[in-house]
Parts: sequence; structure tokens; C-alpha cells
Amino acid sequence: MQHKRVSSDSPTLICKRNVSLKRYVSFANEGNAQINNLLEMKVFYTQDELKSFLQLRAKDKSVGFVPTMGALHEGHLSLIRSSKADTDLTVCSIFVNPTQFNESNDFENYPVTIDADIELLEGVNCDILYLPENAEDVYKNEVSFSIETGVLSEVMEGKNRPGHFDGVMRVVKLLLEIVAPDKAYFGLKDFQQYTIIRNMTKQLDMKVEIVGCPIVREESGLAMSSRNALLSEEDKKKALIIYQTLKYLQDKVQIGDVTQWVEKGLEQLQKNTTPEYLTIAESDTLLPVSQLEKEKKYRAFAVARIGGVRLIDNIEIFV
Ligand code: PAJ
Repeated sequence: MQHKRVSSDSPTLICKRNVSLKRYVSFANEGNAQINNLLEMKVFYTQDELKSFLQLRAKDKSVGFVPTMGALHEGHLSLIRSSKADTDLTVCSIFVNPTQFNESNDFENYPVTIDADIELLEGVNCDILYLPENAEDVYKNEVSFSIETGVLSEVMEGKNRPGHFDGVMRVVKLLLEIVAPDKAYFGLKDFQQYTIIRNMTKQLDMKVEIVGCPIVREESGLAMSSRNALLSEEDKKKALIIYQTLKYLQDKVQIGDVTQWVEKGLEQLQKNTTPEYLTIAESDTLLPVSQLEKEKKYRAFAVARIGGVRLIDNIEIFV
């Protein structure tokens, strides 16, 4: 087992946005009925204010938490809906976490749509939004920690995005400490992230249930993603090949050797995209496999770039 020290050395923490905060606050002060509605969802810009509020208001209530990086879409909203259905108070966070980006371009281009996000959250009756005013607010109480991640963080995204999961674990641990939820909701679209977070909370004995929620897709089959906003209409059509290839593997593979199907799938992906990987792995261990065995669970995982945009998707394999 690899022993991983998740460092708290302070990187330069840049916050992607705070431009629209003032606008939102000043609108709210204007007494406009429609805008005032927005105030039904409480917005906190600092962790201290959020924690004080939760200590008072969430005393005898169950709390559900949905961490996000904003540019919200139906995928994110489905997590909020699950949390609303399961718990008394739902907290969402929007924070484009600088420590999990291994490419500065990706961080700089990451879409920011705070005003639209707030409206969407209001639309699904989210109770509380944590919208940190800067990255220091999130990271200010950080202490280093060590966990065993084994292959979980070495394969697929771990291999192709060095340091990415260190950043994800750092921020999710901090956010879970700030919100102290009973349940936290993660999309199976980022299946490896969900597995790594579940492993982290278990090892650190955190008192939170990690809930995995189904992948939400466009009608076309394209998995919803904040990064889809960066695709042209033509590229969106090209991107359909990712889901089609995963479906192809879901249809074709059976017990036994899967190499030929994965190779054919890669050829298919190459027609429209620059594939990074197409892998079948065990769902529990994330160990890549070339042979499928009975009574084990598997998923197919794909990452491909189109016009410089990196898209990720996966699908369950039935054997
Ligand atoms: P982000 O990409 O904004 O995603 C927030 C949550 O929404 C994640 O749990 C993700 O898996 C889920 N999600 C995204 N698209 C989805 C879809 N189409 N269907 C279902 N769920 C979907 O993941 C992150 O942010 C960050 O790494 C974060 C956990 C917030 C830490 O910074």
C-alpha cells in the first residue's frame, strides 16, 4: 500500500472570482421582491460565519452537503435534490479549488457563472451556499494528514493528472470539516474521485456518509459537465463518441478477455477525439483488468480531449 502524505504547504492560492459578489449583495439590498427571493437561500462568504450559523441552526437537524466548483448544471442539481430528499438542511459550496488543477490553462479557463449558479440553487431550494470570498478562507485551518491510497490514486486520473487527487482530498477534507455534514453527495461521473473520497473519510474516521449519485446525461448521451460549456456545437457532436464507445463496451464485453474490445473502442474514440485512456477496471479496487471474472463488478472509464477540452465519463459493465 502506498502511504501518501497530503501536504499542507501553502501554494499560491488564487481565487477564481469575486467579481459578482458585490453585485449580488447590492441587489439583495435594493428590496426588489424578485431578487429578495434569493435571500431565502443563505449565502456565506466566510467559513466562520457559516460554522456559527450551522452550530445554531443545524443543532437537531441532519445536514447534507454538495461540494462543487460551480458552473452548475443538472448533474450538480441532481445531487442537491438527493440531499434535499434525505436531509433537513442542504449546504452547497462553490469553490474552484486551485490545488487540484495540474494545468494552469485548465484553471484559468474553468467557467465561472456565479449569478446563474445562485439562481439554479434557488430553483431547487438549496438552503445554504458557502461561496468563499477567497482561497485562504477555505485553507486557513489546514493541517497535514496521511492516508493510504494504494492504487486508487495511481491509476487513470491519478496517473494522468499528477497531484490532482492530493488537491481534491485536501479541499474535500477541509470542506467536510467546515460543514460537518451527516451525508455528502458525489457524482459517479467522477467515479475515481468518489472512491478516493470514500476511502479518505473511512481512513480518517470522519463521521460522514458518502453518497454516490448516478451520472446525469444530455438527451444525446453526453455526460453533463461544466467543461461542456467550452465546446463548440460541432465539438459537442464529436464528443458523443465517448458515451457511444462506453455503450459499445457495455454491450460487447463478457466474461473472459476484453483486450480486443478495448482496442476497437480506442480506434472508435480516435476518429473524433484525442483519447487519453479507455480502461476497464474493477469497481471496488479500480485495478485495470484485461480479463473479466464472474461475481466481480467492473466499469469502463474513458477520458478524451476535443478541441483542448478534457472530458471524462464511465459506465457500469454487466457480467
Ligand atoms: P465539480 O466538477 O463541480 O463536480 C461537483 C460534483 O458534481 C461532483 O461530485 C461531480 O461528480 C458531480 N457531477 C458533475 N457532473 C455530473 C453529472 N453529469 N452527473 C452526476 N454528477 C455530476 O468534482 C468537483 O467539482 C471537485 O473535484 C470537488 C469535489 C468540488 C472538489 O473541489
